[in-house]
Amino acid sequence: MIKKERLDKILSNMGYGSRKDVKKLIKAGRVMINNNIETKNNVKINPYEDLITIDGVKLEYREYIYLMLNKPQGVVSSTEDPVSRTVLDLIDEEYLIFKPHPAGRLDKDTEGLILLTNDGKLSHKLLSPKNRIGKTYYVEVEGFLKESHIDKFKEGIILDDGYKTLPAKLEIIEGDFYSKAKLTITEGKYHQVKRMFKALNMEVLYLKRLSIGNLKLDENLELGEYRELTEEEIKLLKEKF
Ligand code: URA
Repeated sequence: MIKKERLDKILSNMGYGSRKDVKKLIKAGRVMINNNIETKNNVKINPYEDLITIDGVKLEYREYIYLMLNKPQGVVSSTEDPVSRTVLDLIDEEYLIFKPHPAGRLDKDTEGLILLTNDGKLSHKLLSPKNRIGKTYYVEVEGFLKESHIDKFKEGIILDDGYKTLPAKLEIIEGDFYSKAKLTITEGKYHQVKRMFKALNMEVLYLKRLSIGNLKLDENLELGEYRELTEEEIKLLKEKF
């Protein structure tokens, strides 16, 4: 059974302002419930069943949103930055009202999958090191990747600060002086992929995240584009917990 909630709480949760702001909105007669103007802010309604409109525009009630973004280079994955564009600058207002946050970080020069959500519990689970969520990257490096490197990544690599990484899976796509590979890691140390290759005297020239757990980047998304996750993708992502 879906619980009835106070109208002001629902609107405030959806990002229409503080309780005080939405109270004004309601008192001004701008909110209709099932086609009747509602001026009582404490009236209890079922946000999934009752029709809510604001200034005549129908409101789709959702508590959580989940977006996948194909982050381009030059954009930072934090929510605020004094100089650079942030991932939130790429998101439309209709989603920003839900206050999504990036679940995890990518370097400014890394491309690929960023999950943005206001589901704090899921973010926390995805980021918690104890859950060992695999993140797969496509990587191009200056250096000759050989079969023997597969074992090195599997055994763990000692980084510049002495930390030994957990086993990682390297799949070589092309081994040459300039090599291409996929790498799956289950932790998220600072600049981890770049530092792992650095420890082997290789420089990462291009890095793109392809997946987080069961969630794969949609190849149809151009750099800078995003879309909502499907129900199926949300289910897959939560499956592990
Ligand atoms: N590892 C890195 O070095 N950079 C990223 O952006 C992600 C993982």
